[in-house]
Amino acid sequence: MIAPITVALGDRSYDIHVGPGLLAVAGTLMLPLLPSRRVFVVTDETLEGLHLEALKESLDAAGIENHGVVLPAGEQTKSFAHLESLLDAMLEARCERSTTVVAFGGGVIGDLTGFAASVLLRGVPFVQIPTTLLSQVDSSVGGKTAVNTRQGKNLVGSFYQPRLVLADVDVLATLPPRELKAGYAEVVKYGLIDEPAFFDWLEINAAALLAGNRSASVRAVETCCRAKARIVGGDERESGQRGLLNLGHTFAHALEAEGGYGELLLHGEAVSIGLRLAFDLSVELGLCPPADRDRLLRHLSALTMPVDLPPLPDRSWDADRLVAHFGKDKKVKDGRVTFVLAHGIGQAFLSPDVPAEAVKSVLAAAILRVRGTSL
Ligand code: GLY
Repeated sequence: MIAPITVALGDRSYDIHVGPGLLAVAGTLMLPLLPSRRVFVVTDETLEGLHLEALKESLDAAGIENHGVVLPAGEQTKSFAHLESLLDAMLEARCERSTTVVAFGGGVIGDLTGFAASVLLRGVPFVQIPTTLLSQVDSSVGGKTAVNTRQGKNLVGSFYQPRLVLADVDVLATLPPRELKAGYAEVVKYGLIDEPAFFDWLEINAAALLAGNRSASVRAVETCCRAKARIVGGDERESGQRGLLNLGHTFAHALEAEGGYGELLLHGEAVSIGLRLAFDLSVELGLCPPADRDRLLRHLSALTMPVDLPPLPDRSWDADRLVAHFGKDKKVKDGRVTFVLAHGIGQAFLSPDVPAEAVKSVLAAAILRVRGTSL
């Protein structure tokens, strides 16, 4: 069992546990942190059929009274409508300020539940039990909560830290392979930001991780959570370095907005393409050696991660339309988008003054590549 990782945020500090077999001891690990022996578990229909019973058994065994709600699986659940019905369900279940809300699921459940916990009775305690690779290495740590609106993803939300994060790598075994692979984009991101040795390790071990190897999973999730804890501990509200975690995401959010948040592109798949485009842009600006971009491209391609835009079913991609989405990014300041660029693998930095022509040229080249494949 590895030592817990602490996110150091003063009196809002908390631990992240990473390992196999954590669901079975979830009740025991949570108990010392609960203001009362009462929790409200939010999960989705997929988890209900797979792992909810194991979590409930663990809570029962620890003497923790548990109620909860099962929501539909999928990005559509991260909406105002579901937030309202979730809050209704919590109030109907007579949640009190001492009731701890548990998010048991992937990023959608974690973000929605965290937001609900932050506003229910002006804030109730909250625990994250992430069940996807993406949520274990990124979204469950750091307290970003949100719902999507018609203007874009994650535009309404709060910073609200959990009291505990339990990342049980055993649950990754039941993830659909496409979803596991999509989550890998958030894993490789940490190597690209500032951990080149982790990128070296991933070049050798990522295939085992994606094949479900348990020790590779523990090592990867642990490394990512340590990196995220360090970054969040230094910049909780993203006034600086936390922005590095958005590597690839400005492109990804635009691709998702154009692609329609559905089956065409999962979030992690959009991030995978976005990572490539961020390195393309860094090369285009003469800031990154092409060899580093090519190394990333080789790595992602060897894992059959997406690196090119998928053809849209009903129209062509359009660089201007993609650029228009950048303006809706949360990170826009005085109308300017801050991009995360890289001087090389493991050398990411924030750049608030990227020339629009360079961005357009990278997008135009990406669109030409799709046309090439769909002719
Ligand atoms: N997912 C990026 C962050 O938590 O800041």
